Amino acid sequence: MKTKEVVVIGAGVVGLTTAITIQEQGGYNVTIVAETWPSDPKTVKYTSFWAGASHGVYRGPDENLRKVRQDTFKVMWELSAPGGPAEACFHRTTEHAFYYDGLGQYADDMPNLKRIPESELRLGAKAGYSFSSYVIDPPVYLNYLLSRFIARGGHIVRGTVQHISQVIEGGTGIWVNGKPSAAPDALVVCNGLGAKTLGGVEDAEVYPNRGQNVIVHAPWVRDAMSLSSPEPTIDTYVFPRRNGDVVLGTVRVPHDWYPVARPETTTQILERCLALCPELAPPEIRAQRAPTIDDLRPLIVEETCGLRPMHVGGIRMEVNWIDGRERESKIPMLLNYGYGPSGYEPSWGSAKAALEMLEGALANVVA
Ligand SMILES: Cc1cc2nc3c(=O)[nH]c(=O)nc-3n(C[C@H](O)[C@H](O)[C@H](O)COP(=O)(O)OP(=O)(O)OC[C@H]3O[C@@H](n4cnc5c(N)ncnc54)[C@H](O)[C@@H]3O)c2cc1C
Ligand SMILES: *[C@@H]1O[C@H](CO)[C@@H](O)[C@H](O)[C@H]1NC(C)=O
Repeated sequence: MKTKEVVVIGAGVVGLTTAITIQEQGGYNVTIVAETWPSDPKTVKYTSFWAGASHGVYRGPDENLRKVRQDTFKVMWELSAPGGPAEACFHRTTEHAFYYDGLGQYADDMPNLKRIPESELRLGAKAGYSFSSYVIDPPVYLNYLLSRFIARGGHIVRGTVQHISQVIEGGTGIWVNGKPSAAPDALVVCNGLGAKTLGGVEDAEVYPNRGQNVIVHAPWVRDAMSLSSPEPTIDTYVFPRRNGDVVLGTVRVPHDWYPVARPETTTQILERCLALCPELAPPEIRAQRAPTIDDLRPLIVEETCGLRPMHVGGIRMEVNWIDGRERESKIPMLLNYGYGPSGYEPSWGSAKAALEMLEGALANVVA
């Protein structure tokens, strides 16, 4: 069987994980073309860089998503094992998750899941769980994904695709030396918020949901903590990374495109996180008096902002048939975007589903 040329557009967590999964199946020559890459200067256009990012309890009713998330957890649990292949990208930890509205009927299973006793519930929460999980360090993990892809023979091209027809007619070569290269047998579109404007896709149901976080250096905090809120725009969490930084979050504001941190939001996040987790303040201060957010400000490393790539109705994964390079030929274009607030948590399971969908489509192409 002839090796098939696959072009993936986008190098965020979704594009990289999908590209690796296709590549490791065998029989594909995979090239990623993307505007932004893991070690580029920081930009709000690259959402994956700005994620928290933990793996929490799934409390929704979607059984398919539950399975995809559980498959992903298994993969990342192995990656993060002591001595494992990507240990340094993760901080394995215990998360204490508090819920203002109780546990709900759909709560997921997680390793070492325990109900938190009522006497230990924080800030008026109705219920809580503790469980084993990990916090990902996205900038480190994204570079791990990229190096794994390259080490196994993947190709990378920096370029901004204006219209999918550019890739069809020119291949990725046009961004390398201005000359056409092999015609793709399939296109895989994993370009997050870019799906709104990419010619040939122009998905009007894609929109941003703005997040803002504060990263502090507080290596004495090693457990993760979270508190759900009745307000959909507010979510409180404390996610310690392996390097001693702790991510404090967050807000969730749909259709807000503002690309940098707002100082008043930073203040609100510090207030909420300190109320949830007074252990954030330096231990020597807590030994003397009740801490305030002014005790946290000197610990700030960075105030961050990211635009979650939303799609109305959730993840969009489907095949569209588009004109190929040869006259009257059709090739599959697999759309895979709209991961919104959770791009890491389902990433490996979702990439496997994408591969299956792609292979199903390619089986229908008459050679
Ligand atoms: C504050 C915050 C906290 C979060 N916390 C979590 C968490 O705890 N757990 C979790 O799972 N998720 C979390 N997320 C969500 C997660 O970050 C996103 O779901 C995920 O990063 C989306 O990845 P992506 O690959 O689809 O998009 P992106 O990372 O934005 O990547 C898009 C890629 O496409 C490229 N591209 C776009 N258009 C074009 C074009 N026309 N031509 C060429 N290239 C193009 C870009 O350059 C880039 O390489 C969080 C997000 C935020 C903002
Ligand atoms: C794979 O694709 C790259 C460009 O994306 C190309 O340079 C290379 O020749 C291709 N390899 C094979 C074996 O077709």
